[in-house]
Amino acid sequence: MFYRPADGHGLPHNPFNAIVTPRPIGWISTRGANGQDNLAPYSFFNAVAYEPPQVMFASTSAKPDRGDTKDSVANIRETGVFCVNVVEHAMRDVMNLSSGPWDKDVDEFEKAGIARAECDTIACSRVVKAPANLECRLTQILQLPGASNFVVFGEVVGIHLRDDCLRDGHFDVTTFQPLARLGYRDYARVDELFSLKRPGD
Ligand SMILES: Cc1cc2nc3c(=O)[nH]c(=O)nc-3n(C[C@H](O)[C@H](O)[C@H](O)COP(=O)(O)O)c2cc1C
Repeated sequence: MFYRPADGHGLPHNPFNAIVTPRPIGWISTRGANGQDNLAPYSFFNAVAYEPPQVMFASTSAKPDRGDTKDSVANIRETGVFCVNVVEHAMRDVMNLSSGPWDKDVDEFEKAGIARAECDTIACSRVVKAPANLECRLTQILQLPGASNFVVFGEVVGIHLRDDCLRDGHFDVTTFQPLARLGYRDYARVDELFSLKRPGD
């Protein structure tokens, strides 16, 4: 089939987010200017540069108690920092619980029973048991076409790696099995690896 998004797809569910898969999940922790902690998953997320290391995530749609956006973007606008927590398969249920449309004064760390620690380089909480945490300083927020579509870019200024995930000097994903977002309500867990040599290696 072929369709122009502007004309509609004619399927029972929008296939768009099943096409661009698998997507990593950035579990974004932020803190409001009032000290309120927030945690939510974003799969429009990726790393975008090495030197200096930079990441992005995109927020779509808005919450009634946040004007034109959601809690994460609203907090980052106030404080200029955020932390990306890597999600392992074992954390799938608490990650999912943190994605609820909770009021802005709900602390998802508390709601989902997730242990937190203070970041080292920014004033923000991190998921202490996550395989890795990327402490980020906001570089820019871009507004995209459409209502409430924002992309947040940040420079990674501090990185925590869980000790058991380091094997022979590698951050070894087989020790924790990253969770990936597919379309609809589907997920995948990374539990099988293979390597390819690049031309010229
Ligand atoms: C696995 C997963 C991935 C998600 N990815 C996104 C995303 O990329 N962008 C987005 O706006 N919402 C995404 N959501 C929905 C948000 O997590 C949800 O709207 C949440 O309430 C936003 O929280 P906040 O208002 O605390 O920022 C995702 C939800 C799940 C479960």
